[in-house]
Amino acid sequence: MAKKIEKNIKQYYSDRAYEYDKTYLRPERQKDIKKLHKLLKYLLNGHTILEIACGTGYWTKTIASVSKFIIAVDINEDVLQIARNRGISSDRVIFIQDDVYSLKKIRNNFTAGFAGFWWSHIPKSKLKGFLEQFHSKLQPNAFVIFIDNLRVEGSSTPISRIDFDGNTYQVRKLEDGREYEILKNFPTKKEILETLGNKIKNLNIKFLEYFWIIYYNI
Ligand SMILES: C[S@@+](CC[C@H](N)C(=O)[O-])C[C@H]1O[C@@H](n2cnc3c(N)ncnc32)[C@H](O)[C@@H]1O
Repeated sequence: MAKKIEKNIKQYYSDRAYEYDKTYLRPERQKDIKKLHKLLKYLLNGHTILEIACGTGYWTKTIASVSKFIIAVDINEDVLQIARNRGISSDRVIFIQDDVYSLKKIRNNFTAGFAGFWWSHIPKSKLKGFLEQFHSKLQPNAFVIFIDNLRVEGSSTPISRIDFDGNTYQVRKLEDGREYEILKNFPTKKEILETLGNKIKNLNIKFLEYFWIIYYNI
């Protein structure tokens, strides 16, 4: 079952590659998006970053303007191709195809980890294992940031079903009409705290109108 969920997400984002960035143009979200750009630049200044599930490199470009160096990973070559054509200097970023659940090609020498809109796609049963794996690729005391969607009635795609583990799903439609059922969770603050446990420190959680952001040290 978990394999099918992961395959759906991989395929959906591959097929959506060329329309993905339109999500960042939604007028009602501009105020929040501007805040996130500003906050990420402030928080990731000077860091050597492992960015996972980087997609088309939308956030990579922002953080590349202030960080020392980024290795940005995604499973789909289609999105990485778009990211590589964003015009970010290769002195600042390397885009690598890899699976976030294994990160086989990644060594562990980063001062920070970042993931945009990825937490929400992880099945609940895999969250803790994923975090352990992600943290293991970072230096001791490294800084970690996740940003993701809040569920906003009338703006978010409706939930289509809930599975046995409490994961929620959406039916997403591409411009050409193809439909995909995608796991998309909207964790509460309590769930985020429970998932992170007591191994992390300096945790900050901020809720904007459409997005949440968390940052902490491992
Ligand atoms: C919601 S998009 C986020 C893209 C980007 N971080 C952003 O915020 O614009 C999720 C990304 O995860 C990637 N992805 C899906 N499964 C993955 C996996 N197992 N390993 C690495 N990346 C994966 C998809 O290709 C997609 O680009």
